[in-house]
Amino acid sequence: MAVIPVNIAGRPYEVRVGAGLLAELVPYCRGRLRKRGVPIITDADVYAAWGGIVEASLRDHGHEPHWRILAPGEQTKSWDELSATVNWLLELEVERGDHIVALGGGVIGDLTGFCAAILKRGCKFIQLPTTLLAQVDSSVGGKTAINTPAGKNLVGAFHQPSLVLADLSALETLPQREMLAGYAEVVKYGLIDDADFFAWCDANGAAMIAGDSALREYAVAHAVAAKARIVAEDEFETTGQRALLNLGHTFGHALEAETGFSARLLHGEAVALGMVLAARYSAHLGLMPRASAEHVAQHIGQIGLPAALAALDLDCSGADLVRHMLHDKKMDAGTLPFLLMKGIGQTYLAKDVSLDDVGTFLDAELARGG
Ligand code: NAD
Ligand code: GLY
Repeated sequence: MAVIPVNIAGRPYEVRVGAGLLAELVPYCRGRLRKRGVPIITDADVYAAWGGIVEASLRDHGHEPHWRILAPGEQTKSWDELSATVNWLLELEVERGDHIVALGGGVIGDLTGFCAAILKRGCKFIQLPTTLLAQVDSSVGGKTAINTPAGKNLVGAFHQPSLVLADLSALETLPQREMLAGYAEVVKYGLIDDADFFAWCDANGAAMIAGDSALREYAVAHAVAAKARIVAEDEFETTGQRALLNLGHTFGHALEAETGFSARLLHGEAVALGMVLAARYSAHLGLMPRASAEHVAQHIGQIGLPAALAALDLDCSGADLVRHMLHDKKMDAGTLPFLLMKGIGQTYLAKDVSLDDVGTFLDAELARGG
């Protein structure tokens, strides 16, 4: 098992990565579950796959789980569900020193974390991420949020968990499409600042996705360590370090908006294609060698993720996609900071990108074949 410290000043915590953690939940929580009753929030699909194991591991140690089982899917990150879940926690008389447990993917982690951030002005929570995306990204770093009619993740708080237990066994029941979507956030760390890790992904990504357990542990632990380092340096995304984690997200967000934030395009799929577009746009600006940008596209495509706009069959223009970008929460006094690449592993934040030029570039990408 790998143990990765997240050294947030004054509130350090650890992420454990390994197989079988859910079955041994109570010992790994090391006294954090201080009462008999344990509030635990999940979704119906995760409950069906892992509820029994978690229930048994809590009861074997004298705890009584109080389950809140929500509908799977993005619509659960809503004002209504936030309000109902906070009221449920209040009825359970959860105190500030108690831990709420989140068992699931990024949807459950983000909602539970936001409940914990606001309940009694802040109580504790434990992340038990069950998707690859949640294990390598959303469960670590303390970003919590819900969606509103104005957009995704527009209301939330920074609130760090006390512990993250990433059980690799959970990935055995994860649908293949969700596994691939999570992989986009794995390879992202190579593209940001770690060319050696991108090369590792090139050599091992397919076998890791197919189920090799040693490769899975290496990939998840390496990605978590990269995220932990960045978050410890820039917890509140003020210095620009943490913003690097948004590589591919500006293009990706526009694509998610154009496809109605629906199952047509999962978040990780949008990030994958967004990273290809960021690489190609960087090459278009002469920043990155064209061959390196095509290497990124080839890797993403070979893994089974969308690597060309043609794959989405969109009926829109480049300007339509740029219009979606204007609602990005990274907009700052009329300009949109863009993550561009000088090469694989050399991502940086550019503040002088012309959105008209991005629109023209996207028109050309829309016209190009798969
Ligand atoms: P998700 O939580 O919707 O899970 C995807 C699907 O997989 C769901 O249907 C779920 O029921 C199912 N599932 C989860 N684990 C399973 C398992 N082990 N076996 C079988 N089925 C399982 O999606 P996600 O991709 O984990 O998370 C996406 C969310 O994360 C988005 O809302 C996004 O905004 C958020 N996010 C947050 C951060 C952050 O830093 N807080 C970072 C990235 C993404
Ligand atoms: N997922 C981006 C971040 O945590 O900052």
